[in-house]
Amino acid sequence: MTEFEIARMSVADFSEVGSLIHNSTNYWYKEHTGNAVFNCSPRETELFCTEYEALDPGCCLVLRTPSDGTIVASCFYHPRPTHISLGILNVHPDYFGRGAARQLLNAVIEIGSQCGLPVRLVSSLMNLDSFSLYNRNGFIPRAVFQDMVLPADATRLQFDASRIGDTRDAQLGDVENMVRLEHEQCGIDRHADFRHILNNRAGIWHVSVMNDTRGRLLGFLASCVHPAHCMLGPGCMLSDEVAEALICRELRYRLPHQPLLLVPSAQQPLLARLYARGATNLELHTLQCRGEWIEPQCIVMPSFLPESM
Ligand SMILES: CC(C)(COP(=O)(O)OP(=O)(O)OC[C@H]1O[C@@H](n2cnc3c(N)ncnc32)[C@H](O)[C@@H]1OP(=O)(O)O)[C@@H](O)C(=O)NCCC(=O)NCCS
Repeated sequence: MTEFEIARMSVADFSEVGSLIHNSTNYWYKEHTGNAVFNCSPRETELFCTEYEALDPGCCLVLRTPSDGTIVASCFYHPRPTHISLGILNVHPDYFGRGAARQLLNAVIEIGSQCGLPVRLVSSLMNLDSFSLYNRNGFIPRAVFQDMVLPADATRLQFDASRIGDTRDAQLGDVENMVRLEHEQCGIDRHADFRHILNNRAGIWHVSVMNDTRGRLLGFLASCVHPAHCMLGPGCMLSDEVAEALICRELRYRLPHQPLLLVPSAQQPLLARLYARGATNLELHTLQCRGEWIEPQCIVMPSFLPESM
């Protein structure tokens, strides 16, 4: 018999789910690494509820205790034309190890099966509880990413992009080309995400694009700065030179913040460029897929919001 009742998060649950995300993640990381992930208030981690409800209404599953309806676990998912992504998944520390995460994961796997689509997610390689949960349930790690930071120093972020193309702020009119580039290079379609980011109703997003001299899109890179989420991505770039130009542009735009960036570990030339600028590694993540996997042909930078890659 199932111990917890599954339901969809409603707007009335935002504060409870925001606190759950904050408490669960910080508890796990403080126990295992000594450091918190969210150095903000539980109120501010409601960002995941508000942004995801705007992007994918009704796509957060929660587990409640049958006795008093307390939410013990939550999981966001993101249905896209090409795949289903699993977003942030949290269990209350009092309920760790009782199958709550497996119950939510199986519900999302079932949604993927019904749609005939692969399920994808990004998970920490330092968190063996989450890695094992996904791995035991058929997910295969397909790409490794390094969580990096660069020093908040404008002079280290200078880059003359003029010999490769033209960088500028992205506009809503760029969505179509961004969707096409990522679809051609990575086989996924995320038009809803890019439209959401460029509409920027919450005022937290910024996107840079780079075009060649004939106006062809060479890459794009978004960034988000909020107390609960300070990160570059999502991004898709055709070369390490383009990636370096866009990374420097977004980091300069965000100074004095130091957003996190997820850099593919297989992209040695880009890593060399970032190390030369003083980048350091904080953690490792892996992009996992259950079902058909299409290997990206360019440099991709996933993000934890929206976690839809
Ligand atoms: C990671 C997390 C979601 C796991 O939740 P949970 O409810 O304790 O997990 P479950 O009990 O459902 O399942 C864990 C599974 O992994 C298995 N497992 C855990 N560690 C393992 C290991 N080292 N080797 C093999 N299997 C392992 C368990 O046996 C269990 O498998 P089973 O269901 O087949 O028996 C929870 O610890 C959490 O919320 N952590 C903080 C936030 C976080 O890290 N979220 C995930 C990334 S978004």
